[in-house]
Amino acid sequence: MVVKLPLKRNVRILLVGDRGVGKTSLILSLVSEEFPETVPAKAEEITIPADVTPEQVPTNIVDYSTIEQTDDQLNDQIKRASVICVVYAVDNDDSLDRVSTYWLPLIRQHHPDYTCPVVLVGNKIDLVDYSTIEGVYALMEDYAEIETCIECSAKTLKNISEMFYYAQKAVLHPTGPLYNVEKAD
Ligand code: GTP
Repeated sequence: MVVKLPLKRNVRILLVGDRGVGKTSLILSLVSEEFPETVPAKAEEITIPADVTPEQVPTNIVDYSTIEQTDDQLNDQIKRASVICVVYAVDNDDSLDRVSTYWLPLIRQHHPDYTCPVVLVGNKIDLVDYSTIEGVYALMEDYAEIETCIECSAKTLKNISEMFYYAQKAVLHPTGPLYNVEKAD
């Protein structure tokens, strides 16, 4: 017997996170392969054709702007996303605290069954000489939807293409639980 699994037709990557953590810069650095010195409030939605993505799947990248968008627009984008990159700045503890106090609970409201994987992205590693990854591992234990975490820099381009690859991979080859033990009877 041949089991046919539904194929993902495209991957929709949404970037969220506090103001100024570098969401728009990350997208523009990926696309132009250089750090933008001036950044608009929000990047236009970008469509990357299948043949130039590592997984050969058309991929949309969607920015979120705290100043340009309403809560309703944010909620709508969260519902439509196939994977969400929650970005914090490694030099800003508040932006990391808000990952667990605001962003992850908000995403859970819209995807209560953990169907939308999350990639945690610590940006601006060019500014510090330490890593935040240890603290983030603790978060991964509490939030099963966090597929992976990565530290990067939009400025030096370190780990930028890897970050978007991880996001794509989180949708196409999830390692997270297909079955939530806590919710099981
Ligand atoms: P909002 O749209 O206001 O939510 O901000 P954002 O998250 O899109 O951040 P944005 O890309 O506008 O960047 C905010 C500031 O951080 C800008 O001055 C960027 O130049 C700077 N920035 C972004 N990424 C990096 C980085 O990797 N390293 C350094 N040093 N600065 C960065």
